[in-house]
Amino acid sequence: MDQDLKGRLNRDGIRLHEPGDFAGMHKAGALAARILDDIAAQVLPGVTTEALDAEIERMVNEAGATSATIGYKGYKHASCISLNHVVCHGIPGPKVVKDGDILNIDVTVIVDGWFGDTSRMYVAGTLSRKAERLIQVTHDALFKGIEAVRPGNTFGDIGHAIQTYVEGHRMSVVRDFCGHGLGQVFHAPPNVLHYGRAGSGPVLEEGMFFTIEPMVNLGRPETKILADDWTAVTRDKSLSAQFEHSVGVTADGVEIFTLSPGGKFHPTWG
Ligand code: MF3
Ligand code: CO
Ligand code: CO
Repeated sequence: MDQDLKGRLNRDGIRLHEPGDFAGMHKAGALAARILDDIAAQVLPGVTTEALDAEIERMVNEAGATSATIGYKGYKHASCISLNHVVCHGIPGPKVVKDGDILNIDVTVIVDGWFGDTSRMYVAGTLSRKAERLIQVTHDALFKGIEAVRPGNTFGDIGHAIQTYVEGHRMSVVRDFCGHGLGQVFHAPPNVLHYGRAGSGPVLEEGMFFTIEPMVNLGRPETKILADDWTAVTRDKSLSAQFEHSVGVTADGVEIFTLSPGGKFHPTWG
C-alpha cells in the first residue's frame, strides 16, 4: 500500500512530496473550492442541509470526481454541514436552515488520486454582529496560520499564530480536533494543532501537504459528540466557526490548493 504513495517520509514520519505532485493537489483543491463557491447561492433560509448535501454530491459526480467522505468510517454524505453551535462533522439531514443561521460546509474530493479538503462559513439571511465577529476572527486566524507556513518554521509556529490571534480577540480555539497531513490519503501525519508554542513540533519542509482548519468558539473551547457519534457541538452551546484550506510547503513559502476560483471564500465576499 504505502509503497505506492509518491514522495518519501521524513524523520518525523511526514511525507515529503515532489514538485510535480503540487499540480495534482492544485486540481483536487480547485474542484473542492469551486463546489463551495457554487453551493453558496443555495444557502438560504428554508433550505434543508440534506438538500445542500445532495447538490454537493451531484456536483462531485458531475465533475467526474469521487467524494472522500462517502464511505469514510461509515459516513454517508458528500459534505459535513455544521450549524451555529455545531463545531464540526454536522450530518446533513432534514433540518431547515433559518434566517440568521451560520453554517460551515466542509467538502473533500478525490481527483486523480489526490485529496482536496476545504471548508468555509456561510450565512443564511441576516448576519448578527456577534456571528460576524466570530466568522471574521476565525477566517483571519486561518490566514495567520498560513502566513507561518514556510520551510524552517515549525508546526508549533502555525498553532501559536492561530491561538494568539484568537485569544487576543477573547475567543477560544477548539482543542479536540485538528488539521492533518493529506495528499494521496485523506488523513496522514502530522496532527496540525491550532494552538501551541512557537518553535515546538516538527519542522516544516518543502513538499509537505496538510490542512489548517481552526475551529473557534465564542465561548469555552470544550466540545462533546452527540449520540449520532459524529456531530461535535460546543459544551456551553456558544457559536462556533471554522475555515479550512489544504496547503503545500514550497521552497520559500506556501501554496494554497483550495483557493476559491470565484473569490468567495469569505461569506461577505463575491
Ligand atoms: N473534511 C473533514 C476534515 O476536514 C473530515 C470529514 S470526515 C467525515 O478532515 F466523515 F465526517 F466526513
Ligand atoms: Co480536513
Ligand atoms: Co475538511
